[in-house]
Amino acid sequence: MSTDLLIVGTGLIGTSIGLALRDQADVALSDRDPATLAAAVGRGAGRPWDGTERFRLALVAAPPSAVAEVMTRLQQVCPDAVLGHVASVQEPVQSALTAAGVALDRVCGSHPMAGKEQSGPQAASADLFVGRPWVLCPSPATSAEALDAVRGLVQACGAEPVVLSAAEHDAAVALVSHLPQVAASAVAALLERSGARPAGAVPALELAGPGLQDTTRIAGSAPGLWVDLLRHNAAAVAPLVHDLVAELSSAAAALDRLAAQPGDAGAAAQVEGLISRGNVGRSLVPRKRGGHDRDFAVVSVAVPDRPGQLAGVLVSAAQTGVNVEDVRVEHLPGRPTGVIELLVQPAAQEHARQALRAAGWDVTGP
Ligand SMILES: NC(=O)c1ccc[n+]([C@@H]2O[C@H](COP(=O)([O-])OP(=O)(O)OC[C@H]3O[C@@H](n4cnc5c(N)ncnc54)[C@H](O)[C@@H]3O)[C@@H](O)[C@H]2O)c1
Repeated sequence: MSTDLLIVGTGLIGTSIGLALRDQADVALSDRDPATLAAAVGRGAGRPWDGTERFRLALVAAPPSAVAEVMTRLQQVCPDAVLGHVASVQEPVQSALTAAGVALDRVCGSHPMAGKEQSGPQAASADLFVGRPWVLCPSPATSAEALDAVRGLVQACGAEPVVLSAAEHDAAVALVSHLPQVAASAVAALLERSGARPAGAVPALELAGPGLQDTTRIAGSAPGLWVDLLRHNAAAVAPLVHDLVAELSSAAAALDRLAAQPGDAGAAAQVEGLISRGNVGRSLVPRKRGGHDRDFAVVSVAVPDRPGQLAGVLVSAAQTGVNVEDVRVEHLPGRPTGVIELLVQPAAQEHARQALRAAGWDVTGP
C-alpha cells in the first residue's frame, strides 16, 4: 500500500495542511505524540501512518530542530520520495540536512507565511493558507521535480508560492515575523507590573483598549517553538533587536527631557519624528494580497455591542453599491460600542459615508 502524502508532525500546521488537502489526496499522518496524532485523525486531517507504508511526497511539519532527524528516517523508508518541510527558519535546517547526509536533490524546504499564536491540531483550519504567501526555498541541489512537487502542494492548499533562497527568506522573516515577536513579548512582559496598585483603585488593565490587544496579540505564542526559531535565526534577529533598542533608548531620553521640561521643543520633535516614521512604516504593511493601507480610505462606523452589527453594515454597503476592500473590527467584549472600519477605494469614500449615513448607520468623522 502507498499514500500520496505523508505529514509528519500533526500540530497546527501539519493538521491544517491535512484538512486543506483531505478531499484532493490520500493523506497519512504521523506524530511522535500519540494523543496529538489521535486528535488530528479525529479532526479528519488524514489516517494514521504505520511507519512502513511508502509515500510519493512527505511534508515534515515538526519543529525546525527535528527536521533533519525525521527526514533521515523517511529517506530510509522511501528513498525515491520527495521530502518537504515547513520550518520557519531555512538556512540552519538546510545545514543540518547536509550534515545528516540527507540526499538534498529530493528535498525542498518551504515556509507558509500563515499561522496563529495557538499550537496543536485543535487550532488547525483548512483555510489557514488561502491567499497567503508560502515561500519555497530550494537548495542549489534541489531537483526541478522536488520543487514542482512542493509547489503543487502549496497551490493545492490555496496559497501563493514565492521562491527565495534560504538566506533571503531568513533575513525577511527576521524583520516581518521574529522582530515583532520579540517586541510584542517585551511589551506584554511589562504588563505583569500592572498588579501593584493602591487598594480600591481600578486595575490599569481594565482600561485597556484595542491598541493593547493589537500590540500584544502574538505575545500569546508558545515559548518552546519560539526559542527554537529564535535560536536558529539569532544572527539575523539580533541586529534588528539592537536597532529597536536604539529607537527606544532615544525615545526614553526625549521623554526624560520632556518630563523635566514639557516645553523642550527638541525633545518633542524627536518624539514626533518617531511617531511619524512609524506612520510611514505602518503604511507599508500589506493589508490584503497586493494591497496596502495607503491604497484605501477608511469609513468608520460606530455600532452598539450587539450581535449582527457587522453583517448589517456589510449588507447596507452591498445594497448601496459600496465595494468594500477589507474590514477591521475594533470591539472589546463588555464595552457598549465597537467600531467597524470599512476600507474602500479613496474615490468611493465620500459616497460610502453618505450612503451608510442615509441607511441609518452612525458614520464617524467628517
Ligand atoms: N505556528 C506557526 O504560526 C507556524 C507558521 C509557519 C510555519 N511553522 C512551522 O511549522 C512547524 C510546526 O509548527 P506548529 O506551529 O504546527 O507546531 P505544533 O507545536 O503545533 O506542532 C508540532 C508537532 O510536531 C510534533 N513533533 C515534534 N518532534 C517530532 C518528531 N521528531 N517526529 C514527529 N513529530 C514530532 C509535535 O508532537 C507536535 O505535534 C515548525 O517547523 C514551525 O516553524 C509554524
